Amino acid sequence: MNIAVFDAKSYDIPCFEQSGAAHGVTFKFFETRLTEDTAKLAKGFDGVCVFVNDTVNAAVIDRLYDYGIRLIALRCAGFNNVDLQHSFGKIHVVRVPAYSPYAVAEHAMALLLTSNRRIHKAYIRTKDFNFRLDGLTGVDLHGKTVGVIGTGKIGRVFIDICRGFGMKVIAYDKYPAENAGIDYVPLSELFARSDFISLHCPLTEDTQHLINADAIAQMKKGVYIINTSRGALIDAEALLEGIKARKVGAACLDVYEEESDLFFEDFSGHIMEDDTLARLISMPNVILTSHQAFLTQEALQNIADTTVQNILTFFRDGVCDNEVCYKCGNINDCRKQRKEKCF
Ligand code: NAI
Repeated sequence: MNIAVFDAKSYDIPCFEQSGAAHGVTFKFFETRLTEDTAKLAKGFDGVCVFVNDTVNAAVIDRLYDYGIRLIALRCAGFNNVDLQHSFGKIHVVRVPAYSPYAVAEHAMALLLTSNRRIHKAYIRTKDFNFRLDGLTGVDLHGKTVGVIGTGKIGRVFIDICRGFGMKVIAYDKYPAENAGIDYVPLSELFARSDFISLHCPLTEDTQHLINADAIAQMKKGVYIINTSRGALIDAEALLEGIKARKVGAACLDVYEEESDLFFEDFSGHIMEDDTLARLISMPNVILTSHQAFLTQEALQNIADTTVQNILTFFRDGVCDNEVCYKCGNINDCRKQRKEKCF
């Protein structure tokens, strides 16, 4: 099995090479992202492996299909960058549903702690032998209320971490978990009561711009917003306005709606064209990391191992537990429930 890996980075390659070699899967690594222009690189391969910012729209799917590609192996959990409806009946899509919920939840808490205790500012000050403390005051997390939106794998680990800090946890989920010991509240109540809000739900039509001007208006003055999920959960312009109005106390962002042309690349020395991002980064109370919440040794190994298993089971066994299609949300009409391929 020969698989073309797009948007391959130095930190991906060793785990994929090792896991592939152990199971007879050969990977060819391309630094470039998958786009309509680069899809031709996939010619002659058995499948493609892509990440969060590769383009897998209708045009790309049609090209891959013409080249005989029948498998797209996502090496991530989210699949909002794939036109699943268009790929249905043509190309199967498999993903890595979980690789380390700890990695992402721990990163969310790292951002929260850094921002609250101004570690990023203190680090730069002491490097310059400036030992003053003014402007570095935070708050105790103990006793504060954190609102968690999305209580799946990552949200629940984040809840456990927050409880360890003695925080009060309230949550909202469209599909609340039964008997999970989680204090679910309506979204409006979560907005009104939370000192910190952390997003752990997927990006769907329902959740796009979940955090908008209206939502921010309902929040406490000084609220912290943490997003390690997907950029488009937040209307970035509305967030900027909320920060300028001193309503939002801090934003901790690992994702950004328009990240796909920027993140994972080095633009130092370039003129930043995205004014919203430039303005956000310029704010003293905004911390941005470039979609790195997943980046731990354990997660990288799990991603490679699961992707190799997905490829093997697809081509060899014909069963694909990790296949996703646009019908998979519809239990009554999902073949995968019967442990078969989706079509
Ligand atoms: P999960 O599928 O285990 O949990 C998602 C939760 O969101 C579920 O409980 C679901 O019921 C809930 N949900 C669905 N629609 C909702 C809505 N409209 N409102 C509120 N809740 C809703 O997913 P997991 O593994 O916890 O991942 C969460 C998200 O984290 C992923 O969708 C992905 O976007 C993001 N992620 C980010 C990474 C990073 O490196 N920054 C890495 C991995 C995931």
